[in-house]
Amino acid sequence: MRAVLLWLARNAWLRARLPKLGFMRRAVRRFMPGETMDDALAAAAPLDSAGIGTLYTHLGENLTSLEAAEGVADHYARLLDRIAGARFDGEISVKPTQLGLDRDFGTCLGHLERLAEHAGRTGSWLWLDMEGSAYTELTMQLYERLRATHTRTGICLQAYLRRTAADIERLRPLDPSIRLVKGAYDEPPAIAFTNRRTVDASYAGLSVAFLVETSGRPVRFGLGTHDVALIELIAAQAGAQGIGRDAFEIQMLYGIRTAEQFRLAAAGYRVQTLIAYGDAWYPWYMRRLAERPANVAFALRSILP
Ligand code: FDA
Repeated sequence: MRAVLLWLARNAWLRARLPKLGFMRRAVRRFMPGETMDDALAAAAPLDSAGIGTLYTHLGENLTSLEAAEGVADHYARLLDRIAGARFDGEISVKPTQLGLDRDFGTCLGHLERLAEHAGRTGSWLWLDMEGSAYTELTMQLYERLRATHTRTGICLQAYLRRTAADIERLRPLDPSIRLVKGAYDEPPAIAFTNRRTVDASYAGLSVAFLVETSGRPVRFGLGTHDVALIELIAAQAGAQGIGRDAFEIQMLYGIRTAEQFRLAAAGYRVQTLIAYGDAWYPWYMRRLAERPANVAFALRSILP
């Protein structure tokens, strides 16, 4: 089921057609407050009242036109200004292929540098999402270049990739800020762990090691997962080594495990919700379905009257 849904996510023919269907548009609302910047910013209010921070992603990926990529960078710059004018803290998280990485590394880096500078100036942060494995090395290189001059930047790394431990070691001299996720793409066993338990073990091991090794350093570490048992295991293992809850943040997606997000914030954890919005939601939504087959039943039920 996961492999089929991830194949559907990559299919350009379906990408052009399925989002027009009413039931798809209704189903996606579960994970997305709306398609506009206003919709996304409005969703922050109840989260902010509970002490939960927000992170925004304007959906889109694999843009092939450099003009379109420039439009995306302009959009994020406007978003940073809107966040700066709002009464809550907000950060942005971008996909390199949405900023032209498929066409030109230098142009993509230029957009990222402009956004990192803007984020730093307005008191926000710029995070790089991690896409499929074809982009891992390039995204690492983008982050290395960016982090050399911009402190308020972070990168997402994927615990299912065998290379991630080495990537963390490689970034360590830069005092990197990292969001660790399990990984959302269909990767072959040669480069990725495919067994759930092994991925979870990799996730816990990488997290505790990073927290212990960077203790006292000026870094941020985000547990980008909805797996609350895993979060509590990491908190306990890190706690046993003298690392407190304030050494990490919990980052979850809007619409997933919402009650847990509020419960964890009330229990004293630092929680951030990633709010995605925009009209290019198809591949992103299909990856959310692939993460949990029960979501497919939910989507199908929304076809029924
Ligand atoms: P797991 O899949 O084990 O789920 C744990 C529990 O959470 C499930 O039992 C279920 O209750 C709930 N849950 C998880 N996914 C759900 C869903 N879709 N619908 C409903 N319930 C669900 N990936 C990537 O490759 N690159 C990236 O840049 C990012 N960025 C990112 C940012 C943030 C803030 C988050 C939370 C996640 C990502 N991801 C990502 C996605 C990540 O790789 C992973 O696919 C999902 O988080 C699902 O895995 P979990 O860690 O939540 O665990």
